[in-house]
Amino acid sequence: MDNLDQLVANARAAFAEAANAAALEQAKARFLGKSGLVTEQLKALGALAPEQKRERGAEVNRAKASIEAALTGRREALREAELAAQLEAEALDVTLPGRGAASGGLHPVSRTLERIERLFQSIGFVAVDGPEIETDWHNFTALNTPENHPARSMHDTFYLEGREDVLLRTHTSPVQVRAMLAHVERYRGQDPMPDLRVIAPGRVYRVDSDATHSPMFHQVEGLWIGERVSFADLKGVVADFLRKFFETESLKVRFRPSFFPFTEPSAEIDVAFKGGALDGRWLEVAGCGMVHPNVLRSGNIDPERYTGFAFGFGPDRLTMLRYGVNDLRLFFEGDLRFLSQFR
Ligand code: DAH
Repeated sequence: MDNLDQLVANARAAFAEAANAAALEQAKARFLGKSGLVTEQLKALGALAPEQKRERGAEVNRAKASIEAALTGRREALREAELAAQLEAEALDVTLPGRGAASGGLHPVSRTLERIERLFQSIGFVAVDGPEIETDWHNFTALNTPENHPARSMHDTFYLEGREDVLLRTHTSPVQVRAMLAHVERYRGQDPMPDLRVIAPGRVYRVDSDATHSPMFHQVEGLWIGERVSFADLKGVVADFLRKFFETESLKVRFRPSFFPFTEPSAEIDVAFKGGALDGRWLEVAGCGMVHPNVLRSGNIDPERYTGFAFGFGPDRLTMLRYGVNDLRLFFEGDLRFLSQFR
């Protein structure tokens, strides 16, 4: 074998031995580099006579081309092997079951609020809302609780820094006043004014925090005003609602005399379940009463012509009773282990 054939064979062997791109580049330098074996052959041509030079030059160039082709071939093979290894390493098993998108659900209190709205809408009530940052006038004064009235101290109010005229509403009752004013405005000149039937669900705030009190909680206000609305209507509407809400006709409902500045007479509403862990125990769920004449006046309604009843439910409490939850704070901590049970 001629020494050029040997050189080509050596190069092929060296390239084949190179296990990766870096090793291949080193092998390349040994043959094709500045002082590589092929380059040496080319340099040696200078010492030859012209006739010989042409012949030998052609041979060396042919050998060089073979070596270059071998190099390219090996490079290609290494790249393919590398790609194959990468594909292997990063392989996705498309047959594995997916992680799945977790499906969300309504918060248990939201479910209660929706349920209350639906039940009251079915008897002609319209859901309305009011601001959570409320004026002192709507929250207290218009509700027959003037300044220095002892009933103001029944509520531990959050005030806004540097302001005395606004506060975080302590109940949803101020929406009664807003609803009356809007209703009167809307039916101005109509005699008699159509009945006003609203419920107002929403967040309220008080300085209070333990297992059964949260500084933020929910209330649902209800109001029905018309020409002949009586306490009998109040009892019927509320008792019917509660039995539907708890889905039990055997629920006992009791109206216990109480005091609120914005109603006269006033009552607290208690329920008692038949059977179950709470069997026979009276549980307070709402306050209610006949709207006080002064409150009707705040709403620009003539108390000589119209009467009405109002009530205020604690939907957080209703939710606890409905689902058997014993700590109010669970509703507001956002713990998925708790919340996902209501999906
Ligand atoms: N606003 C009262 C409270 O937060 C609850 C209440 C009592 C609302 C009697 C009413 C009502 O509408 O008539 O304690």
